[in-house]
Amino acid sequence: MENRPTLSPQVEPEEIALDRALRPRRLDDLTGQDRVRENLRILIEAARGRNEALEHVLFYGPPGLGKTTLAHIIAQEMSANLRVTAGPSIERAGDLAAILSNLREKEVLFIDECHRLGKAVEEILYPAMEDFALDLIIGQGPGARSVRLNLPQFTIVGATTRLALLSAPLRTRFGAVYRLDFYDQASLEEIVQRAAQALSVPLEPEGRAEIARRGRGTPRVALRVLRRVRDYAQVRATGVITAEIAREALSLLEIDEQGLDDLDRRVLLAIITKFDGGPVGLDTIAASIGEAADTIMDVVEPYLLQLGFIERTPRGRMTTRLAYEHLGIPDQRPAQGTLFNAAS
Ligand SMILES: Nc1ncnc2c1ncn2[C@@H]1O[C@H](COP(=O)(O)OP(=O)(O)OP(=O)(O)O)[C@@H](O)[C@H]1O
Ligand SMILES: [Mg+2]
Repeated sequence: MENRPTLSPQVEPEEIALDRALRPRRLDDLTGQDRVRENLRILIEAARGRNEALEHVLFYGPPGLGKTTLAHIIAQEMSANLRVTAGPSIERAGDLAAILSNLREKEVLFIDECHRLGKAVEEILYPAMEDFALDLIIGQGPGARSVRLNLPQFTIVGATTRLALLSAPLRTRFGAVYRLDFYDQASLEEIVQRAAQALSVPLEPEGRAEIARRGRGTPRVALRVLRRVRDYAQVRATGVITAEIAREALSLLEIDEQGLDDLDRRVLLAIITKFDGGPVGLDTIAASIGEAADTIMDVVEPYLLQLGFIERTPRGRMTTRLAYEHLGIPDQRPAQGTLFNAAS
C-alpha cells in the first residue's frame, strides 16, 4: 500500500487526533447512510424503551465508510460503555471468554474484522450471543465436565469488510445486519465542508465539489484528499481551496476525475492489456501487477464495480466499455452477439 498514500483506506497516525475532533458522535451528526441511520434509530429507541441491551449489530462494507464510527455512536446513544477488540487480536478461546465474562450489563463490545475470528473463538461466541452464557469445560479427560456461566445482557457490534467470509452461524446471531454503501456527492460535500470548518481551511464551493467528486465515495479518503489539497493550497497558493487549486493538487497526487488512483488504473490496464478485457480471476490480476489480492478485493474492486468499470462474472472480472472509455483505449472486443450474427 506504500504506493498509494492518498487513497489507501488504512488509517494514518495523523488521522487519529483529527478523528477525535471530527468523528460524528451522535446519530443526528451522521451524514449520509440514511437507511442505516433510520433503521438504527428505531432499533436503539426500541431497546431503550424496553430498558434492554441493544440487539447484536453487524456492519459490513468497504473500508473507511463508517463502521467503527457507527459502533461508537451506538454506545453513545445507548449511554453504554464501549469496549473494542478485533478478530485477529483474539488468539485463544480463553481470551474471548475473559473479555465476555468481564462485560457489564448493556455494555457494547465492538469486534472489528470479525471475519478473522478463529473457529474455536467463534464457538465461544455462539452461546454468548444467543443465550448470554459461557460454556466452559472444567478438567480434562473422562472427568471433564461442562459448566454454564451466565453473562449479563450485552451487545456485540461486529464489523467486516468481507461478509462472505463470515460463517453462517456467526452471521445469523446478529439481530441486525447493515451494509454500508459508498456516499453520494452531496453527503461527501457536507462531510468535507464540516471538516474544512473544523480545520479552518478556506474552501470554495467548487473546490469542495471537486474534492468530494474524487473522494471515492469514502469519507476517510475525501477527508484525506482535503488535507492534501489544503497543504498544496498553502504552499503553492494563498491557502484558499478553489476548484483550480483542487484540480492541480489532485493531478499532482495522480487522482483522476473519477477518483481513481494509480493502483485502480493498473488493475484496469492489466485486465485490458494482459487479459484482453477478461474474464480473469482476481488472484491472477493481483499476481500480474504484484499487489495483494486482499487489497484489490477490499479496496479496488468495490469502487470499480460501483463506477461500472468492471463486472463480476462466474469466470472472473471483466472490464466494461466504460473502463475503456475512461482510459481512452478503444474497445476492440467483439460486441455482444456479434459471433452469432456473423454465423447467420
Ligand atoms: N458519515 C460520516 N460523516 C462524517 N465522517 C465520517 C462518516 N463516516 C465516516 N467518517 C469518517 O471517516 C473516517 C473513517 O471512518 P471509520 O473509521 O468509521 O470507517 P470504517 O468503516 O470503520 O473503516 P475500516 O473498515 O477501515 O475500519 C473517520 O475519520 C470518520 O470520522
Ligand atoms: Mg473501522
